[in-house]
Amino acid sequence: MNKKTHKSRERRTKFLRALKPEKEPGIEIKPRKAIIIGVFSCKGGVGKTTTAANLSTCLHNALDGGVLVVDANLTAPNLGLHFGEMNPKNTIHDVLTNKIPIEKAITKCDGLHALLGSIAFGEDVHSVDLRSHLDILRSSYKVIILDSAPGVGPEVVSAMKACDEVIIVTNPYIPTVASTIKTFGAAERYKISVIGTIVNQIRGEPFELRMEDVRKALGWPILAAIPEDSKVREATSVGVPVVRHAPDSPAAKRFLKLCDSVLDHIGKM
Ligand SMILES: Nc1ncnc2c1ncn2[C@@H]1O[C@H](COP(=O)(O)OP(=O)(O)O)[C@@H](O)[C@H]1O
Ligand SMILES: [Mg+2]
Repeated sequence: MNKKTHKSRERRTKFLRALKPEKEPGIEIKPRKAIIIGVFSCKGGVGKTTTAANLSTCLHNALDGGVLVVDANLTAPNLGLHFGEMNPKNTIHDVLTNKIPIEKAITKCDGLHALLGSIAFGEDVHSVDLRSHLDILRSSYKVIILDSAPGVGPEVVSAMKACDEVIIVTNPYIPTVASTIKTFGAAERYKISVIGTIVNQIRGEPFELRMEDVRKALGWPILAAIPEDSKVREATSVGVPVVRHAPDSPAAKRFLKLCDSVLDHIGKM
């Protein structure tokens, strides 16, 4: 077994051990519940959905299942497209409109469980209590990854309140970083802890912010620096996360590293 595989097995064992309650006579121990990690950013098009799809796929592989990915972009859901699911049979919108219980709304995307949205849903989505819906699923999963809409409006706030922790995505450009500060502000306001930042679509152009500048401006560790990589767009167009479509591509390797950092983080909790 090479060093890398050994390390990742060790990490997985540590994480799985942390999920298992230790038995003590006479004390009732409730099973551990899934942690809900949301992917947020004020801006659209920065790579939130791409991150949610790839991170959940990597976690699913690393943990041998037990991972759910949720499309909480209720106005313009498109997580399904990253898994080649254009028209899921049951959706989060069916749950929010009380048509089906949440357990019946799960779609399997190559083994990964996904709660997808309906692209055709035309009604306005007012504030919903997403947290109480997702709480029902907590005991069935180890990790739940949530993909959010852009902005900091009621839809995003409801998604943020459903999370235990958040990852915030930005690009290496001043306007994006500046608007990302709003997302950090919302997390602070609603007391949701931040794991760190992802800087996506790095092209290495001279006018881009350096990682150190982004870290200083936002004040949080950078969990992953992901290059602009045409394989990501190719993967999106064929409906397969890049970590599966082109696992040796530079971006896929960074998503795998991101997964390792997230597992490390969860293992320490
Ligand atoms: N690192 C990357 N390199 C190249 N294209 C990317 C990268 N990350 C995301 N994209 C592309 O950018 C587009 C927007 O990404 P998406 O994840 O939908 O953003 P958001 O969810 O923040 O709106 C998609 O077409 C996706 O394939
Ligand atoms: Mg999106």
